Amino acid sequence: MRVGVLTGGGDCPGLNAVIRAIVRKGERIHGDELVGFLDGWRGVVEGRTTPLDVEVMRGTLPRGGTVIGTSRTNPYKVDGGVEACRATLSDLGIEALIAIGGEDTLGVASKLHQEGVRVVGVPKTIDNDLSATDVTFGFHTAVQIATDAIDRLHTTAESHDRVIVCEVMGRHAGHIALYAGIAGGASMILVPEEPFDIDEVCARLKARHEKGRFASIVVVAEGAQPKEGSLVLQDAEVDAFGHVKLGGIAKVLADEIEARTGFETRMTILGHVQRGGTPTAFDRVLSTRFGIAAIDAVHDGAFGQMVSSKGDAIVRVPLADAVGELKTMDPSLYHEVAEVFFG
Ligand code: F6P
Repeated sequence: MRVGVLTGGGDCPGLNAVIRAIVRKGERIHGDELVGFLDGWRGVVEGRTTPLDVEVMRGTLPRGGTVIGTSRTNPYKVDGGVEACRATLSDLGIEALIAIGGEDTLGVASKLHQEGVRVVGVPKTIDNDLSATDVTFGFHTAVQIATDAIDRLHTTAESHDRVIVCEVMGRHAGHIALYAGIAGGASMILVPEEPFDIDEVCARLKARHEKGRFASIVVVAEGAQPKEGSLVLQDAEVDAFGHVKLGGIAKVLADEIEARTGFETRMTILGHVQRGGTPTAFDRVLSTRFGIAAIDAVHDGAFGQMVSSKGDAIVRVPLADAVGELKTMDPSLYHEVAEVFFG
C-alpha cells in the first residue's frame, strides 16, 4: 500500500521514533511504500513530499524534532486548501494517510475523514492535554527537562535568597507545570485550570520567607490566568487555529511579586527547550508502540481512528472523540498532593 505520513503542530520529542516504527513495520512486514508529506498539512496542500524508508530513518530514534518538518497550516483556512489536499492524495496515489499531531492536526484529520479521506491519527503533544489517551509522547521528556531546570534554579535561588518564577509550556492545561512542580519541589504551582489570586500568591510566599532564610520557586504554566480583576495581562497575536501566542506570564508575575513582597525576584521562561532534543526512554517506547499500532490500523482499515494509550494497552478510539474535549489536570493531584508543599 502507498501510505502518506505527516507531522503537524508544535514539534515534540518522539516524532521521529513514531515515523521510524511506521516505516519499519510498513516496509518490512506489510510491504508498503511510505511517503512523507513535508511540513504538516502544508505539504499535503502544496503536494511536497519526501520518500521514507528504513535507510532514511536510520539513526533517528534518539533525535528530537521531525525529519519531515511540521507547521501549523490549517487546510480549512487556506483558499481551496481542502480541494488541494484531495488532489494531492489522488495524484500521488496515496491510499491512506497517517496524521501525527495534537488537537488541531487531528481535528483536520477528523474532518477530512468525514469527507471520505482514509486517515489514521497518532496523538502528539508535550502538553498532554488530549482526551481519549492516557498520555501523549513528548510529555514525559518535557517534564524531565523542566524538572532538571527547576533543580538548577533551586541552588541559585537559595544562594541569593530569591524568588524565581519558572514558566513552562501548557496552553490550556497545567500537566507539565503540575508534574515538574511536584518533582522539582515548587513552593507554588500556577495552572490554567485554577485562576490565581496574586494577593494570595504573595501572602503564601511572605509566610514562607518569614519563617527564615528561604528561597522560593514558583512554577507557572504559560496559560495560567489571574482571577478576574486581580492582574491585567496583555493581548497577544493569534495563529491559523485561533490560538494566542503565549509566553511572558512569568515576567508579569516576577515584577508583581517583587513589587508586592519586596523579595528579590527573577524569572526564567523554559520555552522551546522543553520541546527540543532527545526523547526519554519512556517516550521512545510509547512513540514506537504508537507507530506500529498506526500502520497496523491502516492495514485493518481502521480509518477515522486514533491510536491511544489506555493503561498498559494501545487501543483505537474515534478521531472525533480525541479532539472533542481537552484533558485538563487531575484536581486531586493539585489540591491533595502539590498544594501540601505550597508556601
Ligand atoms: O505544541 C504545544 C505547545 O508546545 C504549547 O505548549 C505552546 O503554547 C505552543 O506549542 C507553542 O507554539 P509555537 O512553537 O508555535 O510557538
